Amino acid sequence: MSTNPARPPFGAALCRLDDLPSPGSKGFVFRQGDALFAGFVLREGNGVKGFVDHCPHAGWPMASGPDRYLTRDKKFILCAGHGALFQKTDGLCVSGPCFGEHLEDWPVEVVRGVIRTG
Ligand code: FES
Repeated sequence: MSTNPARPPFGAALCRLDDLPSPGSKGFVFRQGDALFAGFVLREGNGVKGFVDHCPHAGWPMASGPDRYLTRDKKFILCAGHGALFQKTDGLCVSGPCFGEHLEDWPVEVVRGVIRTG
């Protein structure tokens, strides 16, 4: 469990499932005082998966633009910093300078059409 005070609590509503394309991705940033938490959610059909937006290579945020966390073909998560590629299912880095490392999970779920922290 993170001690980051900006991390949203269990059950916090993020957005509607239909706010994301399928396949697609969306980023979220939360602030509390000086603390900041950034995460992103992937959608595939009715399934969602969340990760903390923090590359294990240099710790940079990963998107190349607003909500752009995926490769052009949507098959992998892409870090814009140095081009690392990660599996969408488990966040394992399969190419790049942090090969073999994982993104940190950010548990999310869909409840009645709304994506919530899980
Ligand atoms: S910061 Fe992500 S690959 Fe370097």
